[in-house]
Amino acid sequence: MRGKVVVGSLLETDAELAVLPVYEGKTPLRGSAREADRVLKGAVRRMLDSGEFQPAPRRRRVLPLLESRKGLRPKRLLLMGMGKAADLTVDILRGAAAAAARTARDLKLDAFHAEIPGQVLKAPPEAQAQAWIEGAVMGLYRMDDYRKKEKDGRAGNVRSGVLMAGDREEAGALGRGVKRGLAMGGAVNFARDLVTHPANVAVPAFLARAARSLARKYGMTCRILEARDAERLGMGGVLSVAQAGVAPPKFIILEHSGRNPKAAPVVLVGKGVTFDTGGLNIKPGGGMRTMKTDMSGAAAVLGAMRAIGELNAPQRVVALAPCTENMIAGRANRPGDVITTLSGLTVEIDNTDAEGRLILGDALTYARRYKPQAVVDAATLTGACVVALGESCSGVLGNSEELIDRVRRAADRSGDRVWELPLWPEYFDRIKSDIADIKNTGGRWGGAITAAAFLGRFTEGYPWAHLDIAGPAWRERELPYTPKGASGVGVRLLAELVAEWRPLKSKKQKWA
Ligand code: BES
Ligand code: MN
Ligand code: ZN
Repeated sequence: MRGKVVVGSLLETDAELAVLPVYEGKTPLRGSAREADRVLKGAVRRMLDSGEFQPAPRRRRVLPLLESRKGLRPKRLLLMGMGKAADLTVDILRGAAAAAARTARDLKLDAFHAEIPGQVLKAPPEAQAQAWIEGAVMGLYRMDDYRKKEKDGRAGNVRSGVLMAGDREEAGALGRGVKRGLAMGGAVNFARDLVTHPANVAVPAFLARAARSLARKYGMTCRILEARDAERLGMGGVLSVAQAGVAPPKFIILEHSGRNPKAAPVVLVGKGVTFDTGGLNIKPGGGMRTMKTDMSGAAAVLGAMRAIGELNAPQRVVALAPCTENMIAGRANRPGDVITTLSGLTVEIDNTDAEGRLILGDALTYARRYKPQAVVDAATLTGACVVALGESCSGVLGNSEELIDRVRRAADRSGDRVWELPLWPEYFDRIKSDIADIKNTGGRWGGAITAAAFLGRFTEGYPWAHLDIAGPAWRERELPYTPKGASGVGVRLLAELVAEWRPLKSKKQKWA
């Protein structure tokens, strides 16, 4: 979908579908909805007052204007429920945009026209325009690559979302928002695609190819470390997890130089387990079924890089994604194995299903060579995080309160919600090993935290935040702008964090 800004009034366009936001309660109609109501001799108001149309968020009603257009030029009006005006949020706006875009698609229309809520919402016009376009793009997502019919035929394709501006100045602001919304929404859908591709297609080499093509498109540099490079460097974590897989591991390094290619970068790290069987500590069938999602962290980081490239963000960024399968074979790693990681720390593999932290430990160590300003990792790391927080947010933990604060703010702005879990020193006691420096599990309780503590052992010397995205990465039910399946979680948060990056003030680490 494209996004467009047009100066003029909504009801004077010959839109195929003009979207009119309407609010719950006795509040007067606003903007074009009020104008339309006047031309329609109060029909909209009557629908609301009679209760025939209740404008809860995303409730909608198409008014075909048929022959008698009564002075209205659009071919159809779409009354879009927005809930109570006082409760309107940017996230409700994203959902409304998704609903409007899907209505246009269901009607097999090319475009839909709308205006932003304006005064009803406290956010500036630019942010409103961004949310509208972002929501529409995300809401239209679907994966048709594996269905012959949809792939060949046209199952309805919305080509553009048009936003109306009052004047040229407003058009400028909306245009900036539209650009950002397209970049963010497109990047989320790109990440969803990577996750949705099945594990027999989306092997590590597939992700490496995706990274290379981003590099070509956005003038980034991309380097892929092969298994032999991992051996040469001593990435014992990556190699141990990869050793049963037939698909060779790939360690993706994708760099966006920004305005100052010599500046200390922000490093993004993403877990890229393309399929997690659990290894010899095999997952039960139900738990394994959706484990193609276990590369959602890598997808989030690559998606964020796409948005960063699209927006040409000034900050230098390096993305690292260790990618491997976690399979079962005669040469699989075993519970009890002791490995030496890239950092030199030795790890007792207590459970082969705690593989993410093994490959991330190496990546977090590798990050150190960039002398980063900050490192943020995203990983579908623990089922325990899903038990603790559910599917509505990611867990955030780390060693820098200031960085965690930044993450929290980027989360609020982007709609990719997070909730902080504690990482007190005593949690580190849980990963002591009888034979090695540490072990890769911390027992039954606080599993999301002990997993983060494990990662924390590889992050000394730089500010670090960890996002456990295991809950929101995969949705069993559809949400307002997230279809069932891969959500693309983390893309908007990471891109927002980087796009608005300023150097951290405090070097203080929570433990040392
Ligand atoms: N990839 C899983 C975590 C996961 C679970 C992601 C559910 C998405 C949904 C991870 O590799 C894993 O298996 N973690 C184990 C760790 C345990 C063995 C210490 C877990 O959470 O059970
Ligand atoms: Mn696992
Ligand atoms: Zn895993």
